[in-house]
Amino acid sequence: MNILVVGGGGREHAIIRCLKKNPQVKTVYALPGNGGIAADATCVDISATDIDGIVAFAKAHPVDYAVVAPDDPLVLGCVDALEAAGIPCFGPRANAAIIEGSKVFAKNLMRKYGIPTAAYRAFDDMDQALAYLDTAPIPTVIKADGLALGKGVIIAQTRQEAKAAVRDMMEGHVFGKSGDHIVIEEFLTGPEVSVLAFTDGNCVKPMVSSMDHKRAGDNDTGLNTGGMGTVAPNPYYTREIAQTCMDTIFLPTIRAMNAEGRPFKGCLYFGLMLTPAGPRVIEYNCRFGDPETQVVLPLLESDLLSIMLAVTNGTLAQTEVTFAPRHACCVILASQGYPTAYRKGYEITMTREAAQHTYVAGAKLAQGRLVTSGGRVTGTTAVADSLEEAIREAYRISDGVRFENAYRRSDIGRRALRANG
Ligand code: AMP
Ligand code: GLY
Repeated sequence: MNILVVGGGGREHAIIRCLKKNPQVKTVYALPGNGGIAADATCVDISATDIDGIVAFAKAHPVDYAVVAPDDPLVLGCVDALEAAGIPCFGPRANAAIIEGSKVFAKNLMRKYGIPTAAYRAFDDMDQALAYLDTAPIPTVIKADGLALGKGVIIAQTRQEAKAAVRDMMEGHVFGKSGDHIVIEEFLTGPEVSVLAFTDGNCVKPMVSSMDHKRAGDNDTGLNTGGMGTVAPNPYYTREIAQTCMDTIFLPTIRAMNAEGRPFKGCLYFGLMLTPAGPRVIEYNCRFGDPETQVVLPLLESDLLSIMLAVTNGTLAQTEVTFAPRHACCVILASQGYPTAYRKGYEITMTREAAQHTYVAGAKLAQGRLVTSGGRVTGTTAVADSLEEAIREAYRISDGVRFENAYRRSDIGRRALRANG
């Protein structure tokens, strides 16, 4: 079987390695992939958002199945376009990917179907938003409607800050058209949990839970990033909470999407906050999380390709999805300065052990050498019988990944360890 994977980050590297465990998988094409993925797949220099280019490539090559991993091609209708060309796909169609593509859509869906989330108001008029902020509870959370590379969320501690954020989004267009519509929502507190779930539109099979570390600095300080590391499972996510989430969030969301005529097939990501009043949805993503995937898939015992095909064919209920009762930790190495300014082009070297445990996110090949080309460069994952050991091993092995100006957080998993008591 020949598989086309759209995307080119650490998440896609983890997906590709996991797919290749199935001996039926012959060729994997990664569009565009990256310099590290090139060791595991045939990388083709077609951008993940070039839908016409992707479809043309898929038609011209013996592609049996496609996995569309990143949010933007999903929101742009990459799955619809590939399906129209006769290629079965893993991933939601555009009319379902809107659950991530529009925060206003997601919030309205949750309100309409009684799915627990932060209280909110949606605005498309700046003056009304500013007037509302005169009396809104503080702190408050301002979100741009559309995709904003995970940066469209501002937590404002004062009214002034909140108003400045609204002006930046709606007048200054700092997130482009994403800021034409905004959501202002209640500030919630509690541990965050990421739950990725396979769904074929009827059945939902959640994967092992995980915990992201979104801030750039130790002890959750500094700017928000795409994620500096992850652990799985998330110790705050007990069996009891998982059941509550299944009953009040996961199944109701799938049913709500069906009722709206937008059946969701693929991986639905639930960003949850475990508040004192119970679990709340912070965000939906229409795809695998990054770097959650880099700890979740290494724990998957079942065959990923079979699960993906079952999602596409609507037979997920009859398909085994099991995870090893072990622990995983992923430590991201980023370029110093990320998520703002950083330099690129530094050569990356890895020990043999590190290479086996490392997913490459932001690197390209230049004259046969692997060099940094992005903010997040690599993610090194270790699996062990205890969380403590997984963390220790991930750090030890990531010492074997070297490039100039490399930066990592030193406390990935520490909060999870504390939760364990
Ligand atoms: P998002 O891009 O929606 O994942 O938001 C980024 C981060 O902002 C989340 O991971 C939370 O830490 C935080 N956040 C988002 N919404 C809220 C909220 N209503 N209350 C508190 N924190 C929030
Ligand atoms: N790690 C968060 C995300 O993938 O959006």
